[in-house]
Amino acid sequence: MKNSNKYCWIIRKEVTKMRVLKTADYNEMSRKAANIIAAQVITKPDCVLGLATGSSPIGTYKELIRMYENGDLDFSQVKSVNLDEYKGLPRENDQSYYYFMNDNLFNHINIDKANTNVPNGMEPDAEKECARYEELIKSYGGADLQLLGLGHNGHIGFNEPAEQFDKVTHCVDLQPSTIEANKRFFASADDVPKQAYTMGIGTIMNAKKIVVVVSGEDKAEIVKKAFFGPVTPNVPASILQFHPDVTVVCDAAAYSKVEE
Ligand code: F6R
Repeated sequence: MKNSNKYCWIIRKEVTKMRVLKTADYNEMSRKAANIIAAQVITKPDCVLGLATGSSPIGTYKELIRMYENGDLDFSQVKSVNLDEYKGLPRENDQSYYYFMNDNLFNHINIDKANTNVPNGMEPDAEKECARYEELIKSYGGADLQLLGLGHNGHIGFNEPAEQFDKVTHCVDLQPSTIEANKRFFASADDVPKQAYTMGIGTIMNAKKIVVVVSGEDKAEIVKKAFFGPVTPNVPASILQFHPDVTVVCDAAAYSKVEE
């Protein structure tokens, strides 16, 4: 696995067509990911983008905003579906994923907000909301491109390590490690919601194209496990190795354990 090139593409031909792109740092990771998304929007202006929250995609969204401001991107026909939302958090709460998306992307580009979708965390009937959201994604024909971050435990969306891969949008109990990782955004760990609505692994795998952004040394162990280890529901992101069109854009720090 040793590779001394500063930048490298690894195409894992032995089991998968997964492409792993190593970048120098977070900024380059963000530019590369934004370019892939931009190509999608340019080649299919009415595409469906699956979007993620968290620290990993913020730089990507900044780049997309820059391209829009430069007149290079038009989001007027784009539809979006977000991966997940905390259950019980109102949209106006600045920690809700609805708020995050408006704040970090939608308020700054010409997307029609009526075409942006985040699960409704305030719907108390989990079964009803999850069925509605899954149906909505289906009615769009699925995502043309799904952007993902990677959790420290290998989660994608809020699909936590489990005995099996959950297929469709569902309600999850967040794992203590996820609550711990997300408490930085709340006054205390007690304030982090304990449940969330999330697309299932099957919903994510139905996207035509997937881009994963991963940054930082703290993700190095999970990058190696998820993208170079066995495929198992204990590491939910590992299933991406079986998707026909995945690009992992990973900075050098997150990639560092692969090269050991
Ligand atoms: C966000 C999401 C999560 C994050 C993951 C990584 O919508 O579904 O799976 O992508 O927790 O988060 P960051 O990027 O903050 O390290």
